[in-house]
Amino acid sequence: MKFDTPAGQNPIDRLTVVGKPTDRIDGKFKTTGTAAYAYERHDVVPNQAYGYALGAGIAKGRVRRIDTEAAKRAPGVLAIVTTLDTPKLGLGKMNVASLFGGDQVQHYHQAIAVVVAETFEQARAASFLVSVDYAPEAGKFDLAAEAKAAKPVEGSSGEGSGGGAEDRHGDFEGAFAEAPVTLDQTYTTPDESHAMMEPHATIAAWDGDRLTLWTSNQMIAWTHESIAKILGIPKENVRIDSPYIGGGFGGKLFVRSDAVLAALGAKAAGRPVKLALTRPLVINNTTHRPATIQNIRIGATRDGHITAIAHVSTSGNLQDGKPETAVDQTKLLYAGANRLTAMRLAHLDLPEGNSMRAPGEAPGLMALELAMDEMAETLGLDPVEFRIRNDTQVDPGKPERPFSHRDFVGCLKRGAEAFGWDKRNPKPGQVRDGQWRVGLGMAAGFRNNLLMKSGARVRLDRTGTVTVETDMTDVGTGSYTIIAQTAAEMMGVPLDRVVVRLGDSAYPVSAGSGGQFGANNATSGVYAACVKLREGVAQRLGINSADAVFEDGQVRSGNRAVPLGEAASAGELSAEDSIEYGDLSKKQQQSTFAGHFVEVGVDVDTAEVRVRRMLAVCAAGRILNPKSARSQVIGGMTMGVGAALMEELAVDAKRGFFANHDLAGYEVPVHADIPHQEVIFLDEVDPQSSPMKAKGVGELGICGVGAAVANAIYNATGVRVRDYPITLDKLLARMPDAA
Ligand code: MOS
Repeated sequence: MKFDTPAGQNPIDRLTVVGKPTDRIDGKFKTTGTAAYAYERHDVVPNQAYGYALGAGIAKGRVRRIDTEAAKRAPGVLAIVTTLDTPKLGLGKMNVASLFGGDQVQHYHQAIAVVVAETFEQARAASFLVSVDYAPEAGKFDLAAEAKAAKPVEGSSGEGSGGGAEDRHGDFEGAFAEAPVTLDQTYTTPDESHAMMEPHATIAAWDGDRLTLWTSNQMIAWTHESIAKILGIPKENVRIDSPYIGGGFGGKLFVRSDAVLAALGAKAAGRPVKLALTRPLVINNTTHRPATIQNIRIGATRDGHITAIAHVSTSGNLQDGKPETAVDQTKLLYAGANRLTAMRLAHLDLPEGNSMRAPGEAPGLMALELAMDEMAETLGLDPVEFRIRNDTQVDPGKPERPFSHRDFVGCLKRGAEAFGWDKRNPKPGQVRDGQWRVGLGMAAGFRNNLLMKSGARVRLDRTGTVTVETDMTDVGTGSYTIIAQTAAEMMGVPLDRVVVRLGDSAYPVSAGSGGQFGANNATSGVYAACVKLREGVAQRLGINSADAVFEDGQVRSGNRAVPLGEAASAGELSAEDSIEYGDLSKKQQQSTFAGHFVEVGVDVDTAEVRVRRMLAVCAAGRILNPKSARSQVIGGMTMGVGAALMEELAVDAKRGFFANHDLAGYEVPVHADIPHQEVIFLDEVDPQSSPMKAKGVGELGICGVGAAVANAIYNATGVRVRDYPITLDKLLARMPDAA
């Protein structure tokens, strides 16, 4: 189905199932331990051996020799494959550093061997007997030191956002020089880890030259194609299966070494092999969100209208790596005729930087929205009012291009009212509650809505059960549920008559889970397949599909009403289709908006920060399942608090690795750390986005939160910290006297 004109009235608009707060249908499996994650799929293939991955102990250089003799003689060992036995393997989609093979080391903990044994303990014990001789080389690991040598670079996050090395509209320098009120500040964000609960894990089994991978991955089609390419085997000989995923946040968008090592280990051992990356390998062997240094300049009139805005972001990456696209939101969020956004990339030999939840906007808004708070204060304007004053209903760089739907102002107004913003004391450091200094802060949330082709197959059997098959994944987001809701709405059956099967490369290719594009696109693919199935049903029943009504498990046409399953009495009906998009999103800008509001307490003596209350008001098109969408947004808000207060991969700038490579050293907040988190969804539909009239929302939740926390800390203490995370050492010396 081609979607190239805005959606009109369609069966989804009935909202009998879609749009209702619905418990996740996989919830009972998750909570009873019966949703098997990749490493736990003991039943899929017998005789599974254990793989243990070894990472390089240097950050850059060459592997001279790997001695495996002692390890091979260790108890239980079945096979050892080393990077010196294997030619350098090709790159999968979005991979920057090679996952295995050859003697070059591009980053610390790049895989150099896999040990296969009867048990996990035997494989791990044997791995300690492998001795490696390196020829190390000097590397570059310090972003601040390399920033001066950073080069202008274009790029995208791999999810569709992104832009040129330098994008200009009007005359930024001239307008900035003339502006009566200006800001010129630099902000930094650190390297961060996805820190998902489930590590990267794969079970691999060969049947002759056919390979099956039971793995944990967000994008089945990318991985399917990538594994075939990396191993040099035909795609038809590879099957990927990933029905449950314990979080990914971008770290599982693409194939990683667990899949490659399990496949190579299984081949060498002649047995199925299961392999999970240890937590240190998750941190240094896989990808991370790159640190940024962001300069923001804003010029405004005295009454607070932005006339000039510039955002220049510098990040680092390996050779051929991409920049962190932290300037994205600054292209579209605020009005102003004279604009400059630019990205620079420094060469670093740290592990690979890549997508992490809302790549670009998440760190970008941490800087921009802190700058907006500073600017509002300089102007003597309320930060909410300053943002409202600079709203735009068109792409400010291309005024002929309107937003498809933009209620940013609605988010701000509704949020201010619901949060009690009028009670905020604009003068910082004034409010005390016993041991705590209390402050309120806010920030804008912004993330683009991305359209991706997505397919599905829908089958109907004689009992009236509808089965949906698509390679879409559920990374803990609720995909199973919204897909079931979509099929139930379209076919006029209750939710429990729908079976959803996901994550298998044998199913039609979907959008996959990434860039907050999963929900809108995957359900639209299911919509398209259901439109076809409805036609098939009408044809079987000899009725006109145009006036057939699918409702209450029946198909009605005129006076005739038959149970839906009757259409399949002569045999199962099946329909497959994809949603494919025209150029609607080129003509009109599709984005999602939020207002984030935060209350913090800062201990008067220790400067320890507690987030006391949070509110997000989101304008993100139709909300397909308010319950799971709320959970997504709250998850994002919690992650945003982590970015604001504690998450930082500590760079060992001598040896070139992230030193805090476990969950004791890399701390993340949980919901229980924050007593009150609320989400309000503005009631809206966006017919430009898809037949579902929905947009992404899963990443909007993190976008802007970090700055809202930083701004609340400033309001509480009068201390402005521009380098994240805002740990207490950055506050303590500058705190007002406790008395
Ligand atoms: Mo997201 S960073 O595309 O998982």
